[in-house]
Amino acid sequence: MATERTLIIVKPEGVQRGLVGEVLARFEARGMKLVGLKMMQITPELASRHYAEHQGKPFYEGLVAHITSSPVVVGVLEGPGAIAITRAMMGSTRPAESAPGTIRGDYALSVGLNIIHGSDGGDAAQREIALFFSPDELVNYTRSNERWLTEE
Ligand code: RTP
Ligand code: MG
Repeated sequence: MATERTLIIVKPEGVQRGLVGEVLARFEARGMKLVGLKMMQITPELASRHYAEHQGKPFYEGLVAHITSSPVVVGVLEGPGAIAITRAMMGSTRPAESAPGTIRGDYALSVGLNIIHGSDGGDAAQREIALFFSPDELVNYTRSNERWLTEE
């Protein structure tokens, strides 16, 4: 499985509800490597670029208003198959369909307050990482337990 990087955002409701640690701990425990992490308040301009694919949809205005309403935590996770694994750990977009054991299935009740964003494919991951992080904000390092987490 190829090593990938993916972008996650702990959305305003995740920060406000004190779930940042819970969410990050799940990815750490899974074995994913954090290679970028910061707290920020997303501007309307950045939100419109991040959510460009949703422009024109009925929920778009509310989505941008919400993601800019309070600070978020943005991270880049690295690991084999990181994009699909992160999406699986997030759970379905609609909380009624998100399985228990997933982040949304354990912590969310409403589609607009579903705690976490994750890139939905390789192109999106590249685009979103570049949108939120400059190259010098991302780190390359080896963890001492790497050989127990990833195969050659
Ligand atoms: P995300 O982009 O946040 O990782 O979530 P996703 O791929 O599972 O969902 P997506 O279809 O990309 O939608 C982005 C976010 O918009 C909100 N949404 N609201 N009211 C609605 O019908 C509706 N549909 C989507 C959700 O917060 C979703 O995470
Ligand atoms: Mg999406």
